[in-house]
Amino acid sequence: MRTLIKSAQDIAHMRVACRLASEVLDYITDFVTVGVTTGELDALCHTYMRDVQGTVPAPLNYQPPGYPPYPKAICTSVNDVICHGIPGERVLRAGDTVNLDITVITPEGYFGDTSRMFFIGEPSILAKRLCEVTYECMWLGIAQIRDQAYLGDIGYAIQKHAHAAGYSVVREYCGHGIGTVFHEEPQVLHYGNPKTGMQLQAGMIFTVEPMINAGKRDIRIMPDHWTVKTRDRSLSAQWEHTVLVTQTGYEVLTLSEHSPPPPDLINQRSVVL
Ligand code: MF3
Ligand code: CO
Ligand code: CO
Repeated sequence: MRTLIKSAQDIAHMRVACRLASEVLDYITDFVTVGVTTGELDALCHTYMRDVQGTVPAPLNYQPPGYPPYPKAICTSVNDVICHGIPGERVLRAGDTVNLDITVITPEGYFGDTSRMFFIGEPSILAKRLCEVTYECMWLGIAQIRDQAYLGDIGYAIQKHAHAAGYSVVREYCGHGIGTVFHEEPQVLHYGNPKTGMQLQAGMIFTVEPMINAGKRDIRIMPDHWTVKTRDRSLSAQWEHTVLVTQTGYEVLTLSEHSPPPPDLINQRSVVL
């Protein structure tokens, strides 16, 4: 079995790949406004990756077993779309929420994977709270990460916070190891129990990307075989970072100039410790 521990050289390459993925989100932010189509956002991101960064979008033609090739450069998941929304003619309107999920491949062959939520115009109170709670879920999961911690610690922290807010956790999709392969071991579940599952070791790199629904957790896959919606049509939110496990904690790799700061409950915790 291939080791999940990255070499110092791998880690250096991953820092670059992950920063570049985050910089695509920085770049696209000002274009995410009323009247733009998801297809236009895709084209802008693809052009930026190719012509400014010299990266390749990992989703384009990505074809896991049982799927048709993914046809676009990014994922655009609007409102009740949980993940893997395919960019197209959909016009973004005031009140919509959208997740933009970016994965780049560097010329050296390393993958960086990150996503953020965006509001079009003024969000509803529910949409704002769902996006905030989901952001907190991601960071609470990340905050569990250190050498010798358990994968179940991450899932439990996420699940606990989502359920306390009255929300549900999607179980069909999870975080994943990443490096010179898009999706590799370990699977990082966004639910679970403390001190269960694989023990983390410094040098592992994986994503934390909780999908949280305002209603029930059940999903429905659309006829395009990619787009995943909430079965009950409730709103869904997702945030994603790629993270390196260190001896003392973690290093979030998918940070760039305009990454939102960690939520207050993470800052408060580190002040207390
Ligand atoms: N970026 C997604 C993830 O976080 C995967 C998208 S696969 C695609 O794992 F083909 F839909 F792009
Ligand atoms: Co991912
Ligand atoms: Co992603």
